[in-house]
Amino acid sequence: MLEVYCLKLDKKINENMYNQMSYYISNDKIVRINKIKRLKDRIPHLVGDILVRYLIHIKLGIPNDRIEFKYNENGKPSFLNFENFHFNLSHSGEYVVCAIDDCDIGIDVEKIKEIDLSIVRVVFTDHEIWKLEKEVIENRQRLFYSIWTLKESFVKKIGVGLTFPLKKIEIQQKDQLTFLHNNKIHYFYQTNVDHEHILSVCSGNPISNCPIKHIDVMELYNWVTNNHIYLAKQ
Ligand SMILES: CC(C)(COP(=O)(O)OP(=O)(O)OC[C@H]1O[C@@H](n2cnc3c(N)ncnc32)[C@H](O)[C@@H]1OP(=O)(O)O)[C@@H](O)C(=O)NCCC(=O)NCCS
Repeated sequence: MLEVYCLKLDKKINENMYNQMSYYISNDKIVRINKIKRLKDRIPHLVGDILVRYLIHIKLGIPNDRIEFKYNENGKPSFLNFENFHFNLSHSGEYVVCAIDDCDIGIDVEKIKEIDLSIVRVVFTDHEIWKLEKEVIENRQRLFYSIWTLKESFVKKIGVGLTFPLKKIEIQQKDQLTFLHNNKIHYFYQTNVDHEHILSVCSGNPISNCPIKHIDVMELYNWVTNNHIYLAKQ
């Protein structure tokens, strides 16, 4: 069953905490993350990886040193040791979110911010552009991110990311939000995390409701530091 976890990075993770936590993810991943210049921009990637490990640990009882991820050709991570546990991560603004399910899943969270709406010509269908243009100006930004996150959750579910032409996706709103692709129905769920952040999830299973579960970053920090199961080389 679909579950969505949300973590707000409002508590300070200082360099010392970052360094301690970095021992709990794979060496390859920490090397990749550490290429990012600013600590602030590295934190969501590290916290996201640890959040999935934490969820795998509490849901399946698997210790951290037995958790290994594999990646598809477009970089989508999945859990190597357990076929029925699917997850997907997203980060934006102050939030890191993770969806878990027993089938393929995609999630996208976005901070609603100023954006040059000329991009819609490239990524939206004519009908979506029409809907956006008839919306009152002050609601356009939100509508843009509503449509964008739905599309991105779909391309993340199927694992292709932005290599898929977003203009070819149009989510239907009837009883549920759905999109038919390759004779398969994909189901969507959308909610506001707060007044500035919107998130969408795409799953192969119908989604009726999915309350977001909030996790405090200190819960993760305490888990890794009490756990003492390192992964990266010391
Ligand atoms: C997937 C993609 C849309 C994510 O964009 P983004 O704005 O960084 O998105 P989010 O914050 O929502 O998601 C990031 C997370 O999605 C996951 N992810 C990465 N690639 C993914 C993919 N192809 N499909 C689904 N999820 C993916 C990872 O967990 C990633 O977290 P990390 O960066 O901390 O490892 C974008 O990276 C993309 O289009 N990738 C495919 C393009 C490609 O093939 N690149 C080559 C990489 S090997």
